Amino acid sequence: MSEQETKKRNPKFYWFVFIGTIIIVFLLGLFASSIIERKAEKVYTLQMVKPINDWEPRNEIWGENFPREYETYLQTLDTNFVSKHCGSVNIDYLEKYPELIVLWAGYSFSKDYFQGRGHAYAIKDIRNTLRTGGNTISPQPSTCWTCKSTDVPRLINTMGAENFYKMSWFDNGEQIINPIGCQDCHNNKNMDLQITRPALVEAFQNMGKDITKATHNEMRSLVCAQCHVEYYFKSEGEYLTLPWDKGFSVDDMEKYYDEYNFSDWTHALSKAPMLKAQHPDYELFTTGIHFDRGVSCPDCHMPYKSEGGIKFTNHHIGSPLQNPTNSCQVCHREETEDIIRDVYERQEKVEQLRRLCEKTIAIAHIEAKIAWDNGATEQQMKPILTLIRHSQFRWDYVAAANSMGFHSPNEALRILGTSIQKGEEARRLLAVLLINLGVNYPVNLPDYTTKDKAQKFIGLDMNAIIKDKIEFLKTTVIEWDKKAKERQGSLMEY
Ligand code: HEC
Ligand code: HEC
Ligand code: HEC
Ligand code: HEC
Repeated sequence: MSEQETKKRNPKFYWFVFIGTIIIVFLLGLFASSIIERKAEKVYTLQMVKPINDWEPRNEIWGENFPREYETYLQTLDTNFVSKHCGSVNIDYLEKYPELIVLWAGYSFSKDYFQGRGHAYAIKDIRNTLRTGGNTISPQPSTCWTCKSTDVPRLINTMGAENFYKMSWFDNGEQIINPIGCQDCHNNKNMDLQITRPALVEAFQNMGKDITKATHNEMRSLVCAQCHVEYYFKSEGEYLTLPWDKGFSVDDMEKYYDEYNFSDWTHALSKAPMLKAQHPDYELFTTGIHFDRGVSCPDCHMPYKSEGGIKFTNHHIGSPLQNPTNSCQVCHREETEDIIRDVYERQEKVEQLRRLCEKTIAIAHIEAKIAWDNGATEQQMKPILTLIRHSQFRWDYVAAANSMGFHSPNEALRILGTSIQKGEEARRLLAVLLINLGVNYPVNLPDYTTKDKAQKFIGLDMNAIIKDKIEFLKTTVIEWDKKAKERQGSLMEY
């Protein structure tokens, strides 16, 4: 075609190119938005072969209708996967970080604290942990069962939340036997996502929000926020409550607890009124870039899977690093090794500051005890104990949240930074006080470099505690299971 001819081309041609381009851009736009929305589409037409009763707690019954989801759910029993900082192996955190025992002196976490594992283990693990005690030592309230079982919504429906929480942990043992499962997240009639835990609904109400108005994409994370959140047991009724009234940040929650004058326990060494952060996974996640961009928990933890041409949601919830191809590379083009390196790099920075906090706060508790022993007054100690309380809450907020900070690395580092600052400020005040009291400074520290030594230092009689637990598992638990079998409470063997 000569130049001359081009110039003389029919104007219709330009219109054609113009409109064609618009159509292509439009289609590309649709394609891009479908990539983003793809994560939240309905994957196949659901067919309910057998109707499921209201409050059906047994996962195997739901599994008859949805074998793919059920089979992948059962894979949460696999405990082989281990990454640098997470995974499904039962790592003993007290052995790994013995300072934690000093941090939790006087509180049951100093007896036993293991890394979490798959949902199907929830009942087994809460029965086994030394924190729930044995036949004679420190039984917990029934509230402790709330995040462990599909039997909980069933019981709350019959007796009401208030009455459920009020009971003792023992009283409901025989009723609660099915681990976290289908009913916790799904409506039995149409499989829509649903919220079954009153605490989350009430927390929304207190913030002036109606959780039933949440979008489908929000629901995909809110089903997890039923349990993966910070919480406390309110006053005598042990009423499960999320401290969100002032907001989601660690500063907001600290203010909330201070105003309410709440403490989980009094520290055995420093006598500080302490807060135990639980696992604010949802809250920390909402401060990160993925939440900002509309990514939800299942996008990484429950990616789609295809089997025999059918696409479904993989219910093997665990570390996304088990499967970066399906969980991260749907959105990120980087190679698998680069993706894993990104995660590890962020986690290592968080761990570095986290360890500094643990070392500082442990010493602060011990120095505070020495100050009391040498005649410090309430008035002298008060500002110091407040700093220790805040420092430890901030450390725990990041430490107890899963993912070693990956869900929101910047916020995790900010929180740990303020924890170190408060811990060191407490130690500065303690140094002046100790010198004024005539104590040699720096003080001599005891040896708490292993789990065994640290537990001895804080005065735990681990032999008695373990004996009591073994007795409990051999008597009470056997009895619970017998009664449950009689009423066909569970068919699942694990
Ligand atoms: C962008 C992806 C992504 C999203 C979204 C996400 N996570 Fe994670 N999560 C991770 C990664 C990566 C890890 C660290 C895994 C590792 O180190 O093995 C992790 C770790 C965890 C762990 C610990 C896993 C283990 O193996 O011990 C839990 C629990 C968890 N996330 C819960 C949640 C919850 C709840 C949400 C939503 C509020 C959420 N995650 C949203 C990527 C994500
Ligand atoms: C912790 C919450 C949770 C639990 C427990 C859970 N699911 Fe799901 N399930 C989800 C989420 C999230 C989706 C994706 C829903 C969406 O985006 O529409 C899903 C999707 C589904 C779907 C729709 C089809 C598909 O695969 O996407 C079925 C069917 C299903 N789940 C069955 C089950 C069964 C059976 C169990 C018990 C063995 C179970 N689920 C346990 C959260 C859960
Ligand atoms: C009913 C409460 C409950 C709900 C709902 C729930 N979780 Fe969990 N989750 C737990 C408990 C409890 C554990 C620890 C179980 C154990 O260690 O025995 C856990 C463990 C995990 C782990 C660690 C698994 C491993 O192998 O290390 C991941 C990851 C996780 N949950 C992600 C999620 C995601 C994502 C959702 C929402 C789709 C969700 N959870 C919903 C209570 C819940
Ligand atoms: C549904 C899409 C989606 C999934 C799945 C997803 N990401 Fe992302 N990720 C994003 C978006 C969007 C951003 C923000 C990047 C931007 O806007 O440029 C982001 C940002 C990041 C960043 C940079 C964050 C920072 O610190 O600035 C890292 C690292 C990352 N993702 C890792 C992961 C890993 C690891 C996984 C899997 C466990 C994962 N992502 C899964 C969408 C996703």
